[in-house]
Amino acid sequence: MEAPEKNLALDLVRVTEAAALASARWLGKGNNDAGDGAAVDAMRLCFKSLNIKGTIIIGEGEKDNAPMLHNGEKVGTGNGPAVDVAIDPVEGTKLLAYGRPNAISVVGTAPAGTMYNPGPSFYMQKLVVPPAARNAVDIDAPVKENLVNIAKALGKDVDDLVVFVLDKPRHEKLITQIRDAGARIQLHTDGDVAGALMAVDPRSEVDVMMGTGGTPEGVLAACAIKGIGGQIFARLDPQSYVEKEAIQEAGIDLREIHTVDTLIKSDDVLFAATGISGGTFLRGVQYTGDGAVTHSMVIRGKTGSIRYMEAIHNFNRLMKISSVKYD
Ligand code: FBP
Repeated sequence: MEAPEKNLALDLVRVTEAAALASARWLGKGNNDAGDGAAVDAMRLCFKSLNIKGTIIIGEGEKDNAPMLHNGEKVGTGNGPAVDVAIDPVEGTKLLAYGRPNAISVVGTAPAGTMYNPGPSFYMQKLVVPPAARNAVDIDAPVKENLVNIAKALGKDVDDLVVFVLDKPRHEKLITQIRDAGARIQLHTDGDVAGALMAVDPRSEVDVMMGTGGTPEGVLAACAIKGIGGQIFARLDPQSYVEKEAIQEAGIDLREIHTVDTLIKSDDVLFAATGISGGTFLRGVQYTGDGAVTHSMVIRGKTGSIRYMEAIHNFNRLMKISSVKYD
């Protein structure tokens, strides 16, 4: 019998809460960079008080030149466990800028050296399923075959299933195949980390996520999927000649199929996400005049515990001590 260890994910959630509180002021203002910048600044500041020796492996931002915490940047006090860190201060920058649902702030950590570093890859094909279907799919199988097997594993009919797909021209064929198989679809303009979370969370109506999205987002999602016990099958899927060349020059094999265990090689994974804009999954930041309410999800891989947390923030008190301007 061991006494419970400290759950660092409960500290991580303060980082995503701060980023969400700072960026939600930009909801619907049409300014991609302002929301992202506010979240990055808040996140960077909050990391300073975290007792970790962190290295950012997934820093997001390079694809679209957004404000960012850089890959390789050191975060934390330098005391405590050495960890690889994946962050996305605003996952769904455009969702936030246009006031659409499911913009979230996200952080994942895993012991140093256990998080997949995607190098120059921007895009990845992903197939995400909940724990009960983790052995039921094959990324190279026809879409219909996978959906039939997922439905069977979940004890459902194919026409009960809801598939999360990013609404992108590259998915035209995939969408037709899903419709032909008889499954239902949620089409979202952005936000496939939320899509992956919904696919593995039994409380959500989404059963599976399919299609190509960001590679950093794939690794971030893998932190949560590993914690929950679901599965992600993934393969780099460059969307331009330049991206393909860069990956090949880096000596990365484009044919390699990744799973949750190759993207995150340790069970000691932590994940936190806070809603920014309101969503079906995590509620958005709700300002109350003298404060705000945030809604977050916290996962600890070692124990498989998933916590949903509502936090009530009091700006009158917070602003006496905080360097981030929340009010
Ligand atoms: P951001 O966090 O950079 O705004 O990414 C949003 C997103 O929709 C991701 O969820 C997704 O993985 C990626 O962009 C898809 O990229 P693209 O819009 O270029 O197809």
